[in-house]
Amino acid sequence: MSVTAADSAAIEEAGQLIRAGALVAFPTETVYGLGADATNGRAVAAIFEAKGRPRFNPLIVHVPDLAGAERIGVLTGAARKLAEAFWPGPLTLVVKRRPEAGISDLVSAGLDTLALRVPAHRIAEALLRAADRPLAAPSANRSGRVSPTSAAHVADDLGGGVAMILDGGPTAHGLESTVVDATDEARVHLLRPGAVPREAIAAVLGRPLSDAPAGDTAHPASPGQLASHYAPNARLRLNARDVRPGEALLAFGSGVPASDGPLINLSPRGDLVEAAAGLFGALRDLDKSGAATIAVMPIPEHGLGEAINDRLRRAAAPRPSDR
Ligand code: TXA
Ligand code: MG
Repeated sequence: MSVTAADSAAIEEAGQLIRAGALVAFPTETVYGLGADATNGRAVAAIFEAKGRPRFNPLIVHVPDLAGAERIGVLTGAARKLAEAFWPGPLTLVVKRRPEAGISDLVSAGLDTLALRVPAHRIAEALLRAADRPLAAPSANRSGRVSPTSAAHVADDLGGGVAMILDGGPTAHGLESTVVDATDEARVHLLRPGAVPREAIAAVLGRPLSDAPAGDTAHPASPGQLASHYAPNARLRLNARDVRPGEALLAFGSGVPASDGPLINLSPRGDLVEAAAGLFGALRDLDKSGAATIAVMPIPEHGLGEAINDRLRRAAAPRPSDR
């Protein structure tokens, strides 16, 4: 699948393709999304087919602004406060859906909620306006692979089934949006750590986030939380302080252990924002080196470190094929 420079003619054409029920991959400030008209059930189903998803995970619906969100979802006071503070930007809010708004049930896998976000990206916004439809868009990777942070990653992963890949260069954050459940005013809680740190959300709410209601861990409220969701081909060995023969090394900060294998340092100066932006590209590149195992140096748990370590732990988790 070829990649198209995202000039205004290409964005107009992409908008028409979306309205005709086709799939368009597009850049956001987090990762590339694979977009379809959220009101068209067949188009949404085609997303799952193109990604090779084993089942229907609920998808994020992208809208151009807060008014667009209010048309399809019911925002609680807390949700509106967070939207005003972080939109456009990498925060996704789970809210009750408005049944009359015509969003396909498949988008939220039959749940009575919707995950909504307003991306802070010129091309994403222009596409939303050209399509004149809310866009259901998961990350534009094949199921089980890490999220794409460049148009070339999308082209590597997804072949047929995608009408157009709009190229907007590498993404700024390199990590997916933070997903927060804001359906219950009194119990706003984190479903997926991401590009907005927990601390920043708590600061806007004026209180810490609640713990998720106790539930059945086999059926997480946010299926993207399944342990082995983000996996490169290589095995990952976390918190590595040395490098074993044959291993590639994903380093962070200084004090990098000696190694003669492939090495990528996410941020030699120990900056978590820089590390997040490069994480998925580094995993793909080390995978391509052919090493069977990637040793990963320890990464601090504060700020964006929570989301980075979350993705690394998933990538290190036993795979369905191990069972
Ligand atoms: O940064 C991002 O969020 C990217 C870009 C393209 O916007 N999108 C993305 O989408 O990462 P996806 O489909 O790969 O992840 C969607 C996440 C999953 O963890 C999913 O379970 C959760 O959002 N989610 C979606 N709808 C939900 C709902 N109604 N209730 C709870 N969780 C939901
Ligand atoms: Mg994804």
